[in-house]
Amino acid sequence: MTTYKLPSAQAFESNIHGKNTHLITLKNRAGMQIALSDYGARLVSALVPDKHGDLIDVVLGFPSISDYAEAKEQYHGATVGRFCNRIANGRFALAGKEFALAQNNGSNALHGGPEGFHRKVWDRQVSFKKLVDFYYVSPDGEEGYPGELRTTVSYELTNENEIIIKFRAISNASTVVNLTNHAYFNLNGEGNGDILNHTFTIHADEFLPLNEQQIPTGEILPVEGSVFDFREGKSIASDINSAEQQIQVAQGFDHTFINKLPISQPIATAYSRESGIALEVYSTEPGLHLYTGNFLQDDTGKSGHAYLRYGGFCFEAQHYPDSPNQDAFPKVTLEPGEVFESEIRYKFKIRKD
Ligand code: BGC
Repeated sequence: MTTYKLPSAQAFESNIHGKNTHLITLKNRAGMQIALSDYGARLVSALVPDKHGDLIDVVLGFPSISDYAEAKEQYHGATVGRFCNRIANGRFALAGKEFALAQNNGSNALHGGPEGFHRKVWDRQVSFKKLVDFYYVSPDGEEGYPGELRTTVSYELTNENEIIIKFRAISNASTVVNLTNHAYFNLNGEGNGDILNHTFTIHADEFLPLNEQQIPTGEILPVEGSVFDFREGKSIASDINSAEQQIQVAQGFDHTFINKLPISQPIATAYSRESGIALEVYSTEPGLHLYTGNFLQDDTGKSGHAYLRYGGFCFEAQHYPDSPNQDAFPKVTLEPGEVFESEIRYKFKIRKD
């Protein structure tokens, strides 16, 4: 069995684009520990007690800053922005003006572009060893997006084994914004095989189907009677290889579920009977994007194990993909004078069923 510990702080001390990088660690009264890096304002590790009281690192990631910079999968644990997920053809119009974005997913723009927020060194402030604020000022025109966007991401570790992530942004010109966290979780421990024995419960009646380019078609379909019906809870293995066209398009689950619940109620839970760890996700956002690591390809993680397909899953709470091009979707525009605010809570519990 792997003995998990936080990566060494020295391995995260470097200088990227003239800015020093660091590893910041937080610990709560229950013994849970997390590590964060200012490179991408990202979650590097989360050591959570399992049903035996052993600490398991449930977040996929790397042992050093250089591994993050060089990884095939760039989004591990990162704050993803300015606009997470895809914008079709890297184009959108705002107040009659066309904007062309950096394209990095076929012709689409994915996760804010190749030099998106995940590649930036954020400024930081640590308060009382339980709260970290990261700051980044994205210049007007960065990756093609209009407006200078001032963004804050704060992480808090509560004594209830909860990671609370709050996002805020303001802009000096009309723009679009959609921020999320891209942590990959494996509730059996990072690098410990795949997530196919996890059970998922998603309290959503509807989801967004995708076209062949993984762009929402614009329809909002009921989950009833489909492989997307997780309302009663089911093993992820049961349908991940389904011949269903939507699963084939994404090579697994890579879909947005409609969240109509307030942040006081979990939109979804993942659970591993093997470890006894359950992860609940709560959010203010209208969508929960479930991604089952379909395109993970052979990076070597913190404890020396390869991260392969389905080696982790992401609960990305966010507005809907491609919203700037879909008038019927909830609005993602941010005007000068407005404040963008959103929140995600990842709460860990032990279950013995
Ligand atoms: C997307 C996937 C994409 C992955 C990249 C996810 O959020 O939904 O389609 O391949 O990020 O890491």
